[in-house]
Amino acid sequence: MTAFLRAGPAVRRWDVESAFDWERADAGRLTEGQRSAVEFVTLIEDHLPGYFGVYERAFPLHSGVDLDTFVHNRELYHFTVRWAQEEDSHARALFRYQVAAGMAEPEQLRRGLAAEGRKHFELPHDHAVSLFAYALVQEKATQLYYQQLRAVVGDPVLAGLLTRLARDEARHFAFMADVVERFLRRHGDAVVEPIREVIANFRMPLADTIRGYWRWALRIADTARYDHTDAYSHLIRVVNRAVDARSDQVDELVRFIDACRTTSA
Ligand SMILES: [Fe+2]
Ligand SMILES: [Fe+2]
Repeated sequence: MTAFLRAGPAVRRWDVESAFDWERADAGRLTEGQRSAVEFVTLIEDHLPGYFGVYERAFPLHSGVDLDTFVHNRELYHFTVRWAQEEDSHARALFRYQVAAGMAEPEQLRRGLAAEGRKHFELPHDHAVSLFAYALVQEKATQLYYQQLRAVVGDPVLAGLLTRLARDEARHFAFMADVVERFLRRHGDAVVEPIREVIANFRMPLADTIRGYWRWALRIADTARYDHTDAYSHLIRVVNRAVDARSDQVDELVRFIDACRTTSA
């Protein structure tokens, strides 16, 4: 927790209103694929209330929770609210970009986002480590997506925004990696199966709810890949770092993650 807070000092923080020269935003400098890639990820980021709800349900803070669990959940909450604040800025910044650059009308965009945003989001996992492993993969995949998109876009305002977003996602990944590592250190083989299960059933957020998700994801793949398997080598690194003496189960897990990576790459 302290590491995350230390990695996000005031100088690294930015705000939507002042960090970018919105008046110069110009979607005319983007290809159709790049505009589509921006629209796609705006939907993903805008679903924050759905993601936040998962944490609220998994780590409740109410009178029905015993004291030790509450202590744990309350600690985690320090992270969750800060993370949510940053993700909410991502959603707002992408919205602002679309409007400032002439890609969308505010009211229409707001309604379009709401149509997807109101759909329920749930993860099929009930083990805490599964949620963190899921988030680890997803944060890294999003970071890589922003970096790829940034490398090709012709609008400097968008490039600047994508740089900020990629840096935030990198910090989110580092936090999740740290948590998963601690779980592995502390519980060893007992958390191997919950992690394996995450990889076996992995779906990027909203893959099942956005209409035409897969067609859309494929269409923008030439511009930037939004693919969870791109993050798997990073997960393997986390596992290797956490485990000094590898058990058969851990070996099997690493082989499994690696196989998922190579088959779909
Ligand atoms: Fe984000
Ligand atoms: Fe993130």
